Amino acid sequence: MMELVVIYVYYSDEIIEDVRSRNDIVDVIGSYVNLKRKGNSYSACCPFHHEKTPSFHVSREKQMYHCFGCGVGGNVFTFMMEHENMTFPEAVEMLAERAGIQLPEKSMSGEEKRLADERTRIKEMNKLAAGYFHFLLKSDHGKNALSYLQNRGLSDDTITKFGLGYSDKYSDDLYKYLKSKGYSDDEMAKAGLIRIDERHGPSDRFWNRVMYPIVDTNNRVIGFGGRVMGDGTPKYINSQDTPVFDKSRNLYGLNLARKSKRKGIIFCEGYMDVISMHQAGFDNAVASLGTALTVGQVNLIKRFTDRVYLAYDSDEAGTKAALRALSIMREFELPARVISLKPYKDPDELIQTMGTEEFEKRINEAKSGVMFEIEILEHNYNQNDPQDRTEFQKEAAKCLSRITDPLERDNYIEAVADNYSIDKKTLKETVTAYGLSAESRIDTSVFREQTRRGSPEEEKEKQHLKSERVMITWLINDNSLIPAVREYLEPSDFEDTVYGDVVKSIYEQFDSNGRVEPAVIINHYQSKEEHEKVSSIMQQDFGVDVDAAEKPQAITDLVRRVKRKSVQRSIENAGSDLELIKKLMSQKKAIEKIQIRI
Ligand code: GTP
Ligand code: MN
Repeated sequence: MMELVVIYVYYSDEIIEDVRSRNDIVDVIGSYVNLKRKGNSYSACCPFHHEKTPSFHVSREKQMYHCFGCGVGGNVFTFMMEHENMTFPEAVEMLAERAGIQLPEKSMSGEEKRLADERTRIKEMNKLAAGYFHFLLKSDHGKNALSYLQNRGLSDDTITKFGLGYSDKYSDDLYKYLKSKGYSDDEMAKAGLIRIDERHGPSDRFWNRVMYPIVDTNNRVIGFGGRVMGDGTPKYINSQDTPVFDKSRNLYGLNLARKSKRKGIIFCEGYMDVISMHQAGFDNAVASLGTALTVGQVNLIKRFTDRVYLAYDSDEAGTKAALRALSIMREFELPARVISLKPYKDPDELIQTMGTEEFEKRINEAKSGVMFEIEILEHNYNQNDPQDRTEFQKEAAKCLSRITDPLERDNYIEAVADNYSIDKKTLKETVTAYGLSAESRIDTSVFREQTRRGSPEEEKEKQHLKSERVMITWLINDNSLIPAVREYLEPSDFEDTVYGDVVKSIYEQFDSNGRVEPAVIINHYQSKEEHEKVSSIMQQDFGVDVDAAEKPQAITDLVRRVKRKSVQRSIENAGSDLELIKKLMSQKKAIEKIQIRI
């Protein structure tokens, strides 16, 4: 569903550049991050990764930012896209508004426009509904609901922070409210807020329940969970998937957790667990939305963290869910640790009974996913029966063989051997044997990884792309080189098409303005991936530093290298066209005569 409604909006280059140039990067980033000034450059602790010493730099002159620690960087649009998880058009719109620039009507097809309008209306309805439920909770009608939440230990602050609410006991209360705001039955049904029954007409989906609005990372209400107060069934009703709500790609609490200063993200099972943890200061907690963890959610979380904790319920269902989650995380190479909550049922219960300190302790004692899996395995075997024990050891070895990092694997082999009194050498041999057999699927990636690193061809390839990058860096840093270099290198000489596009843009800017502003080049790209790639080229200048006397030769070498590879490529593609090959061969010879003078 979600894929179908991606909307492509293209603003003209002029508008995009206008928006960019009227939003000074230092001002914009400064409103999110505490920047310290040092000459013309500003620095701070990086908002995109955890660090204690500042390696995040913003340059007013270049209108770019860069973090030496984690490698992120880009222009003011990139920052908004990364920090606020916006799409490129959203970043343009937000910054246009900030600078008081009126954007022209979006150019969309009729169908695109209809879908966009529909999504907008659903989001509006959700927002109104959330506000209404919250209002009811605080009103006379919501007395019981409010005391239910208070009895569960939630403070007024927490209730406000999560926008909790109450859906009244009449089955058409919200329906009437939204009707009065001008929404149609169809729209409300599409938003999943009401159901339409052939015989009985429309009725609210949620009534007489405590309401948990589900908010996405752009702080928009996309759906609801509603809990019965007390022991009725079903305990929870959740919104169905709608054009704005995709359960498999969102997480409860992520809008808050992404701003957390704590290390990593804690996954738990219930809404109540998330709320309880946030209230206790563990504001990096999230939960999936009434379903098991999905691949989309793991992908989503990878954008925000490289460390995950699981705080799933301690019962059998929770353990099963944790094992399943671990296997998905392993596929995505996201290291996960498991927090033991025993003897308590879930994080909420542990925190309510034992308090914050105990939970903090449990986080620090969290076991790596592999150790958790092996511990669960152990319970399935009778350790006093030699045959069972052998089976257990084999299964444990299989688990260990899935660890891709060799050092980490060795460390775990050691720990498991110690823990379960297994001979280290034998265990290691068994693990290696499994690693080599087809039985452990993941392990093949170890070998792929090794060939990737070791292959001389691929190394050369990387080296060549680096030459192209350094060339671009020179052009950006010293615009006076452009005319000389351009005599020999065309955009199409660059093997990487994105680099070629960047060079084209450099030449064009130089033609029209006599100089190149790196931040402008990034404007041409829409996706985060492209922004990252292009800005990573721009950041190379932090590393390039050559003596003035050696500069002409250094540039000459670079130009020759890029050109050589380009002509070589043409020769390979020339097929049997002898005429062409001859021409290319003479071009190739001429390369050695290239001499750049500055
Ligand atoms: P409390 O019982 O209030 O502490 O709720 P909880 O948030 O701890 O929920 P629990 O651990 O029982 O369940 C975990 C999650 O599964 C909930 O947050 C819901 O998303 C979902 N869930 C639980 N019960 C139901 C149900 O009856 N129907 C549906 N659709 N989802 C449920
Ligand atoms: Mn619970």
